[in-house]
Amino acid sequence: MRSIAAFNDGWTFLAGFDPARAGEVQDGAAVALPHNAVDLPFAYFDEASYWRPFTYQKRFTADPDWAGKEVYLVFDGAMADSVVYLNGVEIVAHPDGYSPFEARLTDHLKPGENLITVKIDGSENPAIPPFGARIDYLTYAGIYRDVWLRVTPKVFIENFKVETPDVLGPLKGTKVAVALANPADMPISGCVTGYLMDAEGNEVTRYWLAIEDEQVTLEFPPQRDLRLWDLDSPYLYEMVVRLNTPHGVDERRVRFGYRSVEFTTEGFRLNGKPLKLRGLNRHQSFPYVGYALGRTAQERDADILKDTLKLNMVRTSHYPQSSWFLDRCDEIGLLVFEEIPGWQHVGNEAWKAASIENVRNMIRRDWNHPSIVIWGVRVNESKDHHAFYAETNRLAREMDPTRPTSGVRCIVESEMLEDVYAMNDFILGMEEIGGNRPRTPLRPQKEVTGLDHAVPYMITEFNGHMYPTKVYDQEQRQAEHVTRHLDVLNAAYGDPEIAGAIGWCAFDYNTHKDFGSGDRICHHGVMDMFREPKFAAFAYASQCEPTDVPVLKPVTSWTRGDRNHGGVLPLIILTNCDEVELSSGNMPTRRFTPDRATYPHLPHPPVIIRREDYPNEEFGHWGMGWQNVTFTGYVDGKAVCKADFVADPVASALVVAPDAPQIITGDSLPVIVRVVDQVGNRLPYMFEPVRVTIEGPGELVGPELLSLVGGSTGFWVIARGAGEIRVCVTHAGLGTVVKTLDAQAAKPAVLSQPKP
Ligand code: GAL
Repeated sequence: MRSIAAFNDGWTFLAGFDPARAGEVQDGAAVALPHNAVDLPFAYFDEASYWRPFTYQKRFTADPDWAGKEVYLVFDGAMADSVVYLNGVEIVAHPDGYSPFEARLTDHLKPGENLITVKIDGSENPAIPPFGARIDYLTYAGIYRDVWLRVTPKVFIENFKVETPDVLGPLKGTKVAVALANPADMPISGCVTGYLMDAEGNEVTRYWLAIEDEQVTLEFPPQRDLRLWDLDSPYLYEMVVRLNTPHGVDERRVRFGYRSVEFTTEGFRLNGKPLKLRGLNRHQSFPYVGYALGRTAQERDADILKDTLKLNMVRTSHYPQSSWFLDRCDEIGLLVFEEIPGWQHVGNEAWKAASIENVRNMIRRDWNHPSIVIWGVRVNESKDHHAFYAETNRLAREMDPTRPTSGVRCIVESEMLEDVYAMNDFILGMEEIGGNRPRTPLRPQKEVTGLDHAVPYMITEFNGHMYPTKVYDQEQRQAEHVTRHLDVLNAAYGDPEIAGAIGWCAFDYNTHKDFGSGDRICHHGVMDMFREPKFAAFAYASQCEPTDVPVLKPVTSWTRGDRNHGGVLPLIILTNCDEVELSSGNMPTRRFTPDRATYPHLPHPPVIIRREDYPNEEFGHWGMGWQNVTFTGYVDGKAVCKADFVADPVASALVVAPDAPQIITGDSLPVIVRVVDQVGNRLPYMFEPVRVTIEGPGELVGPELLSLVGGSTGFWVIARGAGEIRVCVTHAGLGTVVKTLDAQAAKPAVLSQPKP
């Protein structure tokens, strides 16, 4: 049987790399993985600081039991250009920052102590996609995902792909294409058995075949009573493949689901049912640590997209993201558009060959995720390159005939070699810079494609740089930010030819000097970099059904004079309630209904209270007294939620919110800090400092002295051992809040679903 163990602890790290010293133990700082080679400040830094080589080393002892076995290190991802040495001998080079790679140690292991040295070069090497021109995101440097030590018999299971033919019929097929690895060229014989297990771990059925060569395809007899994977009920089966050869037994497990996806000229269908796609783009970066946060942070992002933002889709812009993130999308029912690394630029023939290899690596790593419904096989927003994209499409279809291909473009009338035409439609806002048409949320499909017939079509970006909005921007700007997201969503819902729309973007992100607000941040998210919501987050959240959760978010902090001319009208209230009641001071209470006239297609249009609704300028007149207000949301005549605002907000409490009370050693946990008023509302213009101290076996990610940014900030805690971690946050006026985290030792295999 294979053994897999996390290989994340006990590394050393230093800047620079000397190939002549790859075989010798060097003096470095003790580090654990995932690791970011150069932590950056929150904003205003020099992104060139990590464009250089670094050395990671780890000493380990070869286990005598490894004799006669295959021993590999599996790297889930390291940025950007890696070379792995064992005892000074180069084992593997991997010039890509997003795909996993393996280092076969078997032939170079010594008895006793061995030394792994890894060179990581964070340079934006133009030979490696996505580099070669400018890109609007940072890639950081380091071994930023997990590393595993895998020991198997001489012949082992390299990979397998599960396909599910006839998935919508009563008898569902299950086909498992198993690839065996035989690096030492041993004679092969024996058999491969597939066990289909349900989510509770019970065997549903099994099927086996004798081995004839290194590819074995198990076609299970069609099976009744299998459950579908759906968004509300993302039922996962597990395929356990066991290999028996004279060299020993190997076993590999993969979760998968039964579901069908179709992109048609009338939109998207999941399991045969129409579904309008509503999504946002996600970059996998975090403040300070860049890409280097582990399992919990990855899973939490998926949870935020599904549970907080109520999306049904995410695009992994612009590269394959962590397997932890994708596993979570499978578990919670969040559809994924995954794409190869790249941003506008396409390099020379060698660059294109590397990009084609990225298609192969992406699909081979991820073909069993039911959440992934489409492959992006074009470099984001690149020009046409016929031969290159004919090949990426051919390869994707050959490797995975079950999913459509797409490719994201911003150039109209570009050649459609993919199954689904994906457009970044930034037309809204063009009218401000001399566009020749009035404000338009989305262009008609045929204008974009230049084709005379309809094709499967979706929107993969909108807004973003057309209307950057900071979490602490003035309320009026936030309201326009909200309106633009609503306008495009409404247009996408209203056009049956559009499968759906994925906005730019979920979270603010650090970027190069050539983009963003000069602070090295693109403030394009509906949430900030700590995943704190801006108002626009609720444009998405409010589209869920009130039976899921009632949403009521007035786009205001209810202040007398933040907007031009003062007051709070017109006031957008993002809600899925039938009615919203406003009651303030001694004014008569009034109820308002959603504005279906302006937003006829949205599942849940907002309520909009306009100046005409209060012709006496009750909420607008400069100089009048300001009153508290309560908004109450009604569904089926019953009050289900409310939002209170005070007219005289004062800093009343320091809220320190760790994401969970427990943490696993080696993993990281986010902690959000907010200063709130008397009724718990975040103070949007609070910028005072807070001091963070960590006691016990925890490490702080981020500085100890932090400024609140628009009333909130955040940091991560990494558990470096088991025990009680005390997180103390102090604000000069509001005192100290202490939270304790229970850090629990990781199980020996550390993480329940090891990747290799
Ligand atoms: C797009 C690009 C994204 C991001 C966005 C900002 O052109 O694909 O990566 O830069 O603009 O709006």
